[in-house]
Amino acid sequence: MDPIENPFSPGAGTPPPELVGRDAILEQARRLLGRVIRKRPEKSMLLTGLRGVGKTVLLNEIKRLAEGVGYRTVFIEACEGKQLAQLLVPYLWNLLFGLDRMAGTGDKVKRGLAVLRSFVSALKVKIGDVSIGLDIAPQRGLADSGDLEIDLPNLFIAIGEAAEERQCAVAILIDEVQYLNVTELGALIMSMHKIQQLQLPIVLLGAGLPVLAGLAGESKSYAERLFSFPDIGVLSEEDAMKALREPASARGVIFENSALKEIFNLTKGYPYFLQVWGYEAWDLATASPITLSMVQNATENAIKRLDENFFRVRFDRLTRSEKNFLRTMAQLGPGAHRTSDIADMLGIKIASLGPVRAKLIRKGMIYSPSHGDMLFTVPLFDEFMIRAIPEFKRL
Ligand SMILES: Nc1ncnc2c1ncn2[C@@H]1O[C@H](COP(=O)(O)OP(=O)(O)OP(=O)(O)O)[C@@H](O)[C@H]1O
Ligand SMILES: [Mg+2]
Repeated sequence: MDPIENPFSPGAGTPPPELVGRDAILEQARRLLGRVIRKRPEKSMLLTGLRGVGKTVLLNEIKRLAEGVGYRTVFIEACEGKQLAQLLVPYLWNLLFGLDRMAGTGDKVKRGLAVLRSFVSALKVKIGDVSIGLDIAPQRGLADSGDLEIDLPNLFIAIGEAAEERQCAVAILIDEVQYLNVTELGALIMSMHKIQQLQLPIVLLGAGLPVLAGLAGESKSYAERLFSFPDIGVLSEEDAMKALREPASARGVIFENSALKEIFNLTKGYPYFLQVWGYEAWDLATASPITLSMVQNATENAIKRLDENFFRVRFDRLTRSEKNFLRTMAQLGPGAHRTSDIADMLGIKIASLGPVRAKLIRKGMIYSPSHGDMLFTVPLFDEFMIRAIPEFKRL
């Protein structure tokens, strides 16, 4: 079949040809956006889920929804080694300059710019080569304490007031929220706390790995009253089949039902994997319909592609002892495992596994759904570990 016409889109944040199974979340986002713009209180949203389930895709879709109903948006991706303030500031400048150009009277936008200016100088935020706002006088005494948990809320208030004055609303979207440090996450939660109390038109929409709900709760115990944490998971069999069937049929290509079922069984409904199998099956098929045996033949390529693009990059970042830990988890089979089981399997003391476990959590490879239990954050990583290191050896 024509590879140029291949509709499937395995990638990171790449919009799928058909966004299935997410209507409830999108509806929740629509309601949140509608309420905040009318200054009605509503919990902000932090989407949580494993790697490749479609969090970034959803966040982009919510951004589009927000812009469609009149929001100004800021979209950043947190990453290790970069400060939240550093990431946010350039976008907030643009946002405030955008508000400044809108029709309206009042001094709140200018004030917003002055507060941002003092925020920048107090936290010594480095914004690359661009020296922005140097011609603006800082607003002394506001957002300039140098303490993010004080300054960020003040900055958010100033921006919220500026947006309110121009009769618009602001959506701040942050991907990979789990990479923020404790202070940054705390400051963000406190900022939204203030915004809700003052009913200012700012909404926060974030996405991150499943550890996020726990991190937010640990940082500020009232976080769960401010945020909802919708769980973004696998697609049902029906939705998974639709995700493959519809884009193909829009191009006059049919999947046999048994072929769709095979893909569902192999992928367990994980969105990224569905795109990979759809892509490889399309490429291998010579004509419509795409049959079960074509899918079976495409499986080798699909696994190769997954190993190279999805699993290997993570595997290569692991140290020997981390690999050993994960290989032992894989040996124990699917599902959650306790550190004590891993220690037993390796014939070592549980305490000696603490540091490596902590490192794997920090790297976002595993998380703990409940005390003592551990799961992979990357779906089907256990199967990959066995492919990568076929023979299980004790230390
Ligand atoms: N609802 C969906 N239906 C079908 N395919 C989807 C859906 N959502 C996402 N995908 C596909 O899944 C892949 C992964 O999506 P995305 O990058 O948004 O996941 P993610 O959760 O952000 O992953 P990561 O945690 O690694 O950043 C993309 O190729 C995307 O096209
Ligand atoms: Mg993502």
